[in-house]
Amino acid sequence: MALAGKRILIIIGGGIAAYKVLELIRRLREAGTEVRVVMTAAAKHFVTELSVASLTGSKVFSDLFSLTDEAEMGHIQLSRNTDLLVVAPATADLLARMAHGLANDLASTLLLATDKKILVAPAMNLRMWLAPATQRNVRTLKNDGVLFVGPEDGDMACGEYGPGRMSEPANILAAIDQALKGNTALPLPPALRREGGALMGKRVIITSGPTHEPIDPVRYIANRSSGKQGHALAAAAAAAGAEVILISGPVALPDPDGVETHRIETALEMRAAVEAALPADIFIGAAAVADWRVANTAEGKIKKGFRPPGFSLVENPDILASVARHGSMRPRLVVGFAAETADVLAHARAKLERKGCDIIVANDVSAGSDVMGSDENQITIVTRAGLEPLPRLRKDEVARRLITRLADLLPSMPEPAPMAKTGSGSDV
Ligand code: C5P
Repeated sequence: MALAGKRILIIIGGGIAAYKVLELIRRLREAGTEVRVVMTAAAKHFVTELSVASLTGSKVFSDLFSLTDEAEMGHIQLSRNTDLLVVAPATADLLARMAHGLANDLASTLLLATDKKILVAPAMNLRMWLAPATQRNVRTLKNDGVLFVGPEDGDMACGEYGPGRMSEPANILAAIDQALKGNTALPLPPALRREGGALMGKRVIITSGPTHEPIDPVRYIANRSSGKQGHALAAAAAAAGAEVILISGPVALPDPDGVETHRIETALEMRAAVEAALPADIFIGAAAVADWRVANTAEGKIKKGFRPPGFSLVENPDILASVARHGSMRPRLVVGFAAETADVLAHARAKLERKGCDIIVANDVSAGSDVMGSDENQITIVTRAGLEPLPRLRKDEVARRLITRLADLLPSMPEPAPMAKTGSGSDV
């Protein structure tokens, strides 16, 4: 984690999700981060200055024209004397004011005056989130380099279901960590994209490699994925002219040329990086995401004792399923991988339905198939229309053929329908 010793300025907006920011502040403080907080006038209807100040251990700022605050630390200083600004919950109103450069209270003035990165965690009613004006403001802010975490799909305080729930504190924390490490999804300079390919003008997000789930500071749970197939896909998509965002777990491979690569470790970090990289035309989940993480990661190294340490596991979010069921930013083509050791095609068909994706790339990783870590792969492309087996080929050739097939299929895919209610919550 890049959080220890860093300074974060949190701007709390006026929404019901403001209570979750108290938990975020607590976790940041535990991680050794210095937190200052600015509250909008509306935020004070949801959480009190007293509870925020007790958690941060310092004064809460809210008044643009406070003589004492200006004497202690001018508002320009407050926006610059920090490593990152986090807006949570970012209401539709705050996003609109940011997008238009308004400076009519302390929060918006700081956001306009800062020379630091800004991460926003939107939270609002789903109609407000999907309104063309909000989506326009979101696009403007993303173009300006503002980073986003969420919103997620789920049940809302207003009784509706859909996109608009603020990300959980753990996900915002992971996004803050990524932003501080400089792993941010800013657009790749056009000069690095190749001209004339089948995916020219398309944006492709690819996950690759394993994830590492920490047990303590020195140990982790992992798997045997090498990342070779995912990285080869990223290179092939870039060669086809796409703007490619590769989100990779720990691998011993170089970052592919012409690809914007973000290195993460855990499944939660991978999900935060994928969320921040959306929207996209194509999502390919080639990573072997760990299904579980350790519930209570030990802060210090666990010592060898009389008994082996027991730890409990909690399920990780399914990144592929959450992208396939994304309420507002589902890519037009969502592709998953199914590495199985038995009944490969039956499992692949079931996975297509369960995860809500358009294509499953099935491969046999049973003992003797010699796929994990090798330079060759034998895949079958599974769509709702049928099976398309490929011969055993080098992984870069598999990647080239798969990317060509995806480029063929893309125009025939229906426009993604926003707000399809198919899951039971944000973490499917
Ligand atoms: O369920 P299973 O792990 O077999 O599914 C494999 C597919 O789902 C891969 O595309 C993988 O990237 C994706 N996945 C995911 N998040 C998880 C588990 C798997 O995106 N937590």
